[in-house]
Amino acid sequence: MAYFISICSGKGGTGKSTTAINLGYAMKTFDKDVTLLDNNLTTPNLGVYLGLEDVSVTLNDSLRGKNHATEAMYIHNSGLKVIPSSIALKDLNVNPENLRETFLDLKDNADIVIVDNSGGLSSDTIHGIRNCNEVLVVTNPDIASVTGALRVIKFAENLKKPIRGVVLSRVNNDKNELSLEEIEKTLGKEVIAIVEEDNIIKNSLLNGNSVIENFPKSKHSIEYKKLAARILGVKFDEELEEKKSRFFNFLRFLGVKK
Ligand SMILES: Nc1ncnc2c1ncn2[C@@H]1O[C@H](COP(=O)(O)OP(=O)(O)OP(=O)(O)O)[C@@H](O)[C@H]1O
Ligand SMILES: [Mg+2]
Repeated sequence: MAYFISICSGKGGTGKSTTAINLGYAMKTFDKDVTLLDNNLTTPNLGVYLGLEDVSVTLNDSLRGKNHATEAMYIHNSGLKVIPSSIALKDLNVNPENLRETFLDLKDNADIVIVDNSGGLSSDTIHGIRNCNEVLVVTNPDIASVTGALRVIKFAENLKKPIRGVVLSRVNNDKNELSLEEIEKTLGKEVIAIVEEDNIIKNSLLNGNSVIENFPKSKHSIEYKKLAARILGVKFDEELEEKKSRFFNFLRFLGVKK
């Protein structure tokens, strides 16, 4: 029986799709069968990031009852299974209420389904939350995204959905950012991963890959793997991985690695 994790945020652009791709790939490294589902019907970008913008069957066809969800499933070269939503304007008019049936189609087709939602509480996201097993919240260290994240958390809790925790993404460590303590206190939830702003994330997405494939020893990769291990409840040798990471970062500092 697949386990559905909804990735949500209070506003757009916080790094949900980036989290979905990297968390998904990290889970694969722990031998899980992972499907990524692009439940962002108005600004779909998961498929675009993974080179699946021009496919014949999409989530939209599943929501229309035209196709079984598995017919909209494509295998990315990483081995991740991906269900993109359509970028065509003609496909905008679909009913997200039917997401329940799409989830049912997928229940025997993966260990984990990572649901990449749109920012805020639009109707696609509301159904993404309503039908999932748990919610993972992605925020940035600024007032707008933390306030929005709080709204999402309250909404999910009203539906009795467990909140796995908060991924604090796009962190620049500058003085204008909210601190970790302020964020945890405001949200009443633990920050379970911190992902700094770094071009290696953008660069990997540009190549249609996770940062783990492109820069496996970067601290970003370690953070996503740590997050995956925590969610899956499996052991992760953090000390060993961090030793490898320190060496990689040293080479990067010397300019030997980009
Ligand atoms: N840690 C990071 N470092 C650098 N760039 C990042 C990082 N995380 C995300 N980005 C970049 O920020 C932009 C938005 O990221 P992403 O598309 O994952 O956000 P999103 O929350 O899914 O957005 P939307 O709400 O529009 O779906 C992308 O250009 C992505 O490459
Ligand atoms: Mg997105």
